[in-house]
Amino acid sequence: MKRGFPGEGMAAEVKGENRKDLIIAIDGPAGAGKSTVARSLSRRLHLPYLDTGAMYRALTLKALRQRLDLEDGPGLAEMARGTDMRGEYRRGMRPPYRFFLDGEDVTAAIRSREVSAHVSQVSSHPEVRREMVRKQRACAQEGGLVAEGRDVGTVVFPRADFKFFITASLKERARRRYREMRREGYPVTLKAVEQEMLRRDHLDSTRKVNPLRRAPDAVVIDTTGMSVSQVVSEILGVVGSGREETRVPRR
Ligand code: DC
Repeated sequence: MKRGFPGEGMAAEVKGENRKDLIIAIDGPAGAGKSTVARSLSRRLHLPYLDTGAMYRALTLKALRQRLDLEDGPGLAEMARGTDMRGEYRRGMRPPYRFFLDGEDVTAAIRSREVSAHVSQVSSHPEVRREMVRKQRACAQEGGLVAEGRDVGTVVFPRADFKFFITASLKERARRRYREMRREGYPVTLKAVEQEMLRRDHLDSTRKVNPLRRAPDAVVIDTTGMSVSQVVSEILGVVGSGREETRVPRR
């Protein structure tokens, strides 16, 4: 994975946190603003960004294309094992963070309604999650990162240096996702987005394996009514001060 835009003059003014092995875990429900915040943080801190949701989406896309049985957990996990998934910043592209599935740029394809409708089913299988967690941990072998998802602070990186749980009201989350999708040209309605979000919230937080859960040691940020830069500043404030009460002790 590549570093985000090094040398862009966005170096973090975060005292003592220029550590290349820093792991920051960000979890929360769909549309809470995790991706925008995590990407901004990764650039500010010059750490790679790991979008675990994009990984589950890419796997879902591949399974749909190959017409695999989405109830076959072991089969899907087997496919995941032989699949290359990675994210990279590509200067000059919109959006600049691109996601590749076996070398193909699937940045737009993984956001389709079909993938969104099936990703919770694919990600509910324990065999799939085991394989994906293995891949996600491998991304941190060369150093730190900013990782976002649903179980990043609880399961993937339980020893992350900092954990955040980002949330917002359902209405606000639906509005944000709606605006984003319209901007990208998807012909959706606000009502449909809200219903889909409610359905996914329910599936993600009630599934048996690694459900969406706040780590007890995560700092909770409700982003309702907050701008991205306000959220990023708040997180940088916590990371920069390395406050004892918020820093997760390395066990
Ligand atoms: O963050 P997102 O909306 O792109 O994630 C898509 C789906 O992937 C989400 O509905 C649940 C699943 N997911 C997961 O199960 N575990 C993660 N760590 C990240 C995402």
